[in-house]
Amino acid sequence: MDNKLETLENVRENISYNLSEGVKNRKSDFRTFTLCSHGIYPTGRTVVLRGYDSLTNILTFHTNSHADKIKDINENPYVCCVFYSKSLKIQIRCFGHAEINRKNTRSIASWNNMNDMSKECYFQNPPPGTQIKSYNDFSKTIFSSVSDNFCVVDVKLEKLDWLFLKREGHRRANIFINNKESDTWVSP
Ligand SMILES: Cc1cc2nc3c(=O)[nH]c(=O)nc-3n(C[C@H](O)[C@H](O)[C@H](O)COP(=O)(O)O)c2cc1C
Repeated sequence: MDNKLETLENVRENISYNLSEGVKNRKSDFRTFTLCSHGIYPTGRTVVLRGYDSLTNILTFHTNSHADKIKDINENPYVCCVFYSKSLKIQIRCFGHAEINRKNTRSIASWNNMNDMSKECYFQNPPPGTQIKSYNDFSKTIFSSVSDNFCVVDVKLEKLDWLFLKREGHRRANIFINNKESDTWVSP
């Protein structure tokens, strides 16, 4: 994105642009992010960015209801989504709370837009995270038109920590989604 990244408004635009690119463009570094949740241990894992709405400030990813991340979110919905682009030298940490959509109109609408290969994963037996005797001791037999395991998770963003690595001096800013006046530069 061609702006000088010299104002907090530029930073907001930069975040919005990069996250939108992540959804649209498979080659974007913002296509995946590390979703951090807090269970017994704090943990992170890579997921694909499936949606970003710049008006509602919601990030979306898909997952299986049996996944540990769902257990974590059910216990503590506060999550952090960490993006990093090596080529742009930009890290964006997005703090917010997650809402799980399962067997509802939102999850069914997303299901209907998916290809068969993606759908298959949600019929995996035994479910993800189950111990198996051999590496291939699982199957993906489709046994209904919609999988009850399919979840669409929306993360409602609250605060963003943006960091731009630059030879002449790094730049860092905090963006408060619902309180623009509090947006601030931070010493990197
Ligand atoms: C490039 C990449 C993309 C991934 N995308 C997803 C995804 O969109 N949703 C998901 O649940 N897991 C995804 N995974 C797998 C997760 O990183 C993780 O291994 C799995 O979901 C189990 O995590 P959990 O036990 O902490 O819930 C992806 C892994 C990689 C390497």
